[in-house]
Amino acid sequence: NPASASLQVAELDWSQLQDAVAGCTRCGLCHGRRNTVFGVGDKQAKWLFIGEGPGRNEDMQGEPFVGPAGKLLDNMLVAMGLKRGDNAYIANIVKCRPTDDNGRDRPPSAEEVAACLPYLQRQIALIQPTVLVALGKTAALSLLELDPKTPVSTLRGKVHRYAGRPLVVTYHPAYLLRQLADKGKVWSDLCLAMSTYANPGE
Ligand code: URA
Repeated sequence: NPASASLQVAELDWSQLQDAVAGCTRCGLCHGRRNTVFGVGDKQAKWLFIGEGPGRNEDMQGEPFVGPAGKLLDNMLVAMGLKRGDNAYIANIVKCRPTDDNGRDRPPSAEEVAACLPYLQRQIALIQPTVLVALGKTAALSLLELDPKTPVSTLRGKVHRYAGRPLVVTYHPAYLLRQLADKGKVWSDLCLAMSTYANPGE
């Protein structure tokens, strides 16, 4: 029963949570993974960045955002005066890599998201970040429980709330790599998040 399972996750401490993720079999993604990807960073981070899920590189290394999109994310963090492991935590909606029948990355299904979300919710409860940044469609729509057809563009430019905290939505760095013309938009989203950080109750 998913409700009682999430209740159990909600009681775990950090290391129990890490163990639970490492041994998780709550959805089919456990069969294809090399590594689970728990997240990385400062456990007392004020900033939590949330991506979609591990890709090939992340599955191999067990760390989020280690490929080309990760380099871009690191640069975004530096521009904000942050860095991986120092005041920022990086996690994903799902902890295991989703692939299609040809072994290519795909977004997680609604069921996979539902199975995995209690882990992220527990990470948020333990880290207690001041601001959440949803990177891309899967993160934004999963957290805000919106229709899968909702365009990310309609969610930008305002401060949402999740788990009682401000949540800002921006484009995924992998999208931005293909669409560098949108980097000004991403920067304005990050600026909105930074202004929220100064005034988290608003
Ligand atoms: N894309 C994501 O959303 N997350 C990762 O960890 C890597 C790429």
